[in-house]
Order: sequence, then structure tokens, then C-alpha cells
Amino acid sequence: MLVALTGTPGTGKSSVAKILRKKGYKVIALNRVILKRKLIKGFDKKRKSWIVDIKKAERYLKEVEKKNKNKIIVIDSHISHLLNVDFAIILRCSPEELEKRLKKKRWPKQKIIENVEAEIIDVIPVEAEENLGKENIVEIDTTGKKPEEIAKQVEIILKNLDKKKEL
Ligand SMILES: Nc1ncnc2c1ncn2[C@@H]1O[C@H](COP(=O)(O)OP(=O)(O)OP(=O)(O)O)[C@@H](O)[C@H]1O
Ligand SMILES: [Mg+2]
Repeated sequence: MLVALTGTPGTGKSSVAKILRKKGYKVIALNRVILKRKLIKGFDKKRKSWIVDIKKAERYLKEVEKKNKNKIIVIDSHISHLLNVDFAIILRCSPEELEKRLKKKRWPKQKIIENVEAEIIDVIPVEAEENLGKENIVEIDTTGKKPEEIAKQVEIILKNLDKKKEL
């Protein structure tokens, strides 16, 4: 079962992913895999970012799924909800706190504005609902919460998904 751990950059996906990995969950840092395995189809000069080859990324995930039969695979990436996954967990954050977190990460001002705006207008939840349907997505507000607390919430969701799968 493929579960997307998604959310606007800075909402804390990788911080939560790290904790989940320590708890023994199979977690894929998809953005890293995309570059390592060249699951890309070009470079967007204007945005200074790689263009992901969704088909190739999905093929890769199918292989991982085959090798991990009956296991939940968590995919850490802000694009994971666009893939052919079973469920998406979306991390949300208040615009004020998101701005603070991105500033701490020393992101360029323009990038910070872009991402805070994306969070305000629900870009990822809208995309996820379109791709997976309302019943296959859940949102977690991370504002004022520690990564450990968020990881616990994610774990409860994963356990419930695992139970449902066996029915
Ligand atoms: N729950 C939290 N509360 C406060 N700060 C946090 C929290 N989670 C993460 N951070 C901080 O916010 C920044 C972004 O976190 P992180 O790298 O986990 O986000 P991300 O969603 O993986 O971002 P990206 O999409 O860019 O990979 C880091 O500096 C991290 O220390
Ligand atoms: Mg990350």
C-alpha cells in the first residue's frame, strides 16, 4: 500500500518521515530517489527545478511495492499526492508559521512567498482531492505541534489504513 506524505514545502514532511523511519516504517524520500534514478524528463529553467517524469516515478514505486508485499510504504514528497497512491496524508501549517520555518531554512524571499501563497489557497489539498477523491485524503494541522506529536497522529492513520486493508 502506497501512502503519500505530502504538504507544501516546510510543513515538516521530512521531519515526520525521519521519526516514522525510526519507528520501523518503510519510508521513501522520493525527491532524492527522483534525482538519483533520474526519474526526470527535463529542467524547468524559469523555476530552476527538475521536471519529474510521473510515469517513471510510478513505475519505480510499483517495484518497491512488489518487493514489500503487504507493507505500508510512506512516500515523503510534496508531489507524492499526484502519483497513483492509495491514500494521501497532507501536512498543513498556518501561513505565519510556515513563513518562519522557511526563513529558518534560508529560502529565497520569492520562493517563501510562492509557498506561503500555495498553502493559503490549498493547492495541494485541491490537487490531492482531484487525484484521489475526498475519501482518500486526510489533513493534519502541524501549527504549534512538535514533529513527534504529528508522527503519532500519522501512525494512527497508518494503523487504521492497515486494518481496513485486511477487511
Ligand atoms: N512541527 C514543526 N514545528 C516547528 N518547526 C518544524 C516542524 N517540522 C519541521 N520544522 C522545521 O521546518 C523546516 C522544514 O521542515 P522539513 O524539512 O521537515 O519540511 P518538508 O516538508 O520536508 O520540506 P521540503 O518539502 O522542502 O522537503 C525545518 O527547518 C524544520 O526543522
Ligand atoms: Mg523534505
